[in-house]
Amino acid sequence: MDLKQYSAQVQTRINDLMERKVDALDEAAVQLKAAMRYGLLLGGKRARPLLVYATGQLFGVSQAQLDHAAAAIECIHAYSLIHDDMPEMDNDLLRRGKPSVHAAFSPQLALLAGDALQALAFEFLGSSPLDPAITVEQMQLLATNAGYSGMCGGQALDLQSEHQQISYESLRQLHAKKTGALIKAAVLMGAVAGKPSPQARQAVTTYAEKIGLAFQIWDDVLDVIGDSAVTGKPVGNDEQAGKSTYPSLFGLDKAKKLAVQAKDDALAALASPALAGLDSALLEQFALFCVSRDH
Ligand code: IPE
Ligand code: IPE
Ligand code: MG
Ligand code: MG
Ligand code: MG
Repeated sequence: MDLKQYSAQVQTRINDLMERKVDALDEAAVQLKAAMRYGLLLGGKRARPLLVYATGQLFGVSQAQLDHAAAAIECIHAYSLIHDDMPEMDNDLLRRGKPSVHAAFSPQLALLAGDALQALAFEFLGSSPLDPAITVEQMQLLATNAGYSGMCGGQALDLQSEHQQISYESLRQLHAKKTGALIKAAVLMGAVAGKPSPQARQAVTTYAEKIGLAFQIWDDVLDVIGDSAVTGKPVGNDEQAGKSTYPSLFGLDKAKKLAVQAKDDALAALASPALAGLDSALLEQFALFCVSRDH
């Protein structure tokens, strides 16, 4: 199966699962439920669930065993986007081709929808069919990479770096945390379910770090050269907000080259002897997608 087909299959699978979960919530706070549904279910590539499943598959784990982990990380991601767009953060009005949650509902509901989706993530994981020891490890991976040491910490660095000239090392850290951390969590949550050797785990960890970097550099690139009708979000807002990005620090051409370099490093990690004999074709294709995507 090529990546395109696999991605379509993952989207259908994960959307059904998440929709059933949200639909099962009672109607006591019906506006909050509507805001959660809107922020979680309307669009999105589902890249992180895909990475959970594809890495699981590499180590022989079925999709059915990873559904809860895949849904959990997508809930965290959706929450991060809802809050990221709020006036207090990036103040963006467009997401996935529609008004952002705070614009379509209200800032109060956007705040709460993000909070509730974060909690829903751990509800999903808590009902995983996997061995409890593996589930606990997945929970730790998700919590650590979502919180202070991961995405939230990275978002704080992103905000404090607006209108600042920061070093290359600081920018690398910023990207590794705000976006790389959840991508690493996705890969490792899939991997740990297959009990990889330490060497194999190290190889996919390196792969994850490199695609995480490539993914966010390309996100920065698309903010410069993308088509808003295709990306579904504003173009040019990074520059307007004075964000520290790869194009702002290095210029567009060098930023693209560094993204491609990160992709090549990711492919090299997959070529590790520790993964010999395993079918990493989907992960390879995903690395290429990171630096060729138009959305
Ligand atoms: C956008 O993530 C924000 C980043 C962390 C770069 P995606 O590009 O995965 O967004 P969706 O989920 O497909 O909308
Ligand atoms: C977002 O980075 C990272 C998150 C943790 C949500 P951006 O602010 O560049 O993401 P977009 O471009 O708004 O999707
Ligand atoms: Mg942001
Ligand atoms: Mg943003
Ligand atoms: Mg961006």
